[in-house]
Amino acid sequence: MSNQKVTLEEIVSLAKRRGFIFPGSEIYGGLAGTWDYGPHGVTLKNNIKRLWWKRFVDDREDMYGVDAAILMNEKVWEASGHIAGFSDPLVEDLKTKKRYRADHLLEEAGINPAGMTLEEMTDAIKENSIMSPDKNELSEVRQFNMMFKTEVGALGGQYSYLRPETAQGIFVNFKNVVDSMQPKMPFGIAQIGKAFRNEITPREFVFRVREMEQMEVEYFVHPDEWEKNFNHWLNQLREWMEDIGLTKGRIHEVDIAEEDRAHYSTKTIDIEFDFPFGQRELYGLAYRTDYDLKKHAEHSGAKLQYRDDVKGEVFTPHVIEPSLGLDRTFLAILTSAFTKDTVGGEERAYLKLNKELAPVRVMVSPLLKNKPELQEKAREVFSTLKKEFGNVMYDDNGNIGKRYRRQDEIGTPYCVTIDFDSLEGNDVTVRNRDTAEQERVKIEDLISKLS
Ligand code: GAP
Repeated sequence: MSNQKVTLEEIVSLAKRRGFIFPGSEIYGGLAGTWDYGPHGVTLKNNIKRLWWKRFVDDREDMYGVDAAILMNEKVWEASGHIAGFSDPLVEDLKTKKRYRADHLLEEAGINPAGMTLEEMTDAIKENSIMSPDKNELSEVRQFNMMFKTEVGALGGQYSYLRPETAQGIFVNFKNVVDSMQPKMPFGIAQIGKAFRNEITPREFVFRVREMEQMEVEYFVHPDEWEKNFNHWLNQLREWMEDIGLTKGRIHEVDIAEEDRAHYSTKTIDIEFDFPFGQRELYGLAYRTDYDLKKHAEHSGAKLQYRDDVKGEVFTPHVIEPSLGLDRTFLAILTSAFTKDTVGGEERAYLKLNKELAPVRVMVSPLLKNKPELQEKAREVFSTLKKEFGNVMYDDNGNIGKRYRRQDEIGTPYCVTIDFDSLEGNDVTVRNRDTAEQERVKIEDLISKLS
């Protein structure tokens, strides 16, 4: 895919114009950190999920899917450490009362906040005279828990949280999956679902949002085999990113230093990606040891162990976790696919999406809108292709040039046009998105041509 420079503004504007992503609650002025996926966006998102599920669940023997509840018993979050520690450092503009991530302000001032305590961050802000973006003084730095708390039931007094990661829905079902499926070690449990974080400063489009989707695997291994399996999953991530067409030169693997790792991890490699606004985390691959299963066993009293009947061994499995944000995947795909070139002396932008991801696989249209005989033939071709491919679109709005430009921006690999010659010769024009070249194809050969 493309390695051209693209700005975030170009992506946001195309996403809105072409029905991929709209600002959340837009007609009411929006709600920060929320975005709504439109008709083409939801299809592209579903295509990503489908490919992920096929690759990591359906095509493997050692994976089991779950779809756990978003609301979980409050004790889950005590055990996991999220109530005590799932927080970001917050500072307040003393005048406007606007809130910011202290670590982000330090980074922007060229200071590395890695490993700093709250006091050290406060001192660094003072010593370097760092001001808020509105040029006012800042408060002391304090922790801000990012979980959304909510009340459960009509009586009041019982609380829960919108889950901040899908992973815990997997850990609490470890015993259920082992008892019902009798998996052989190593094995994994996979889940795709929503997660919520009350981010202090949601920003950069769908990169940092308050409501997101994650695609996570918790892969359970014998403690002696964690390293081998960690490397296996690193390779799996590399293959996945190639499959979905992420530009290779934009991908970086970063070994995370101890002071920057999450509380449960003893090794983490972040996959970072050159987004239009800089190099940022796309995915995380963490070795979570037996931290979660042990904590849940302690807090719940359940026996969360694995019995290996062949070796006669009972142990608490260790966990390798490839964690993928779906919204960031979406943005990385758009960034990679966004391409500009010149066709017939005119500049155009198009999305060079791979065929499995493209929300529309083929667009069918009659050359002219007001000719019933062309409409009839085009409808016939459309029905045949729709039966075969599903995501086929009929478009007779505007002139043919405008239709092609529109489909280029949606990333449609092929456009099929029915003209007067089609009525006689039973053939059509097929236009290729990437080359903008057109060729005549017999209607009976269309399906094999487009497959
Ligand atoms: N279960 C491990 C876990 O949740 P994480 O690094 O906090 O780890 C995993 O999050 C992934 O979720 C990230 O790599 C990113 O892709 C995505 N993610 C996290 N916070 C996000 C946010 N506020 N908006 C969009 N995606 C986010």
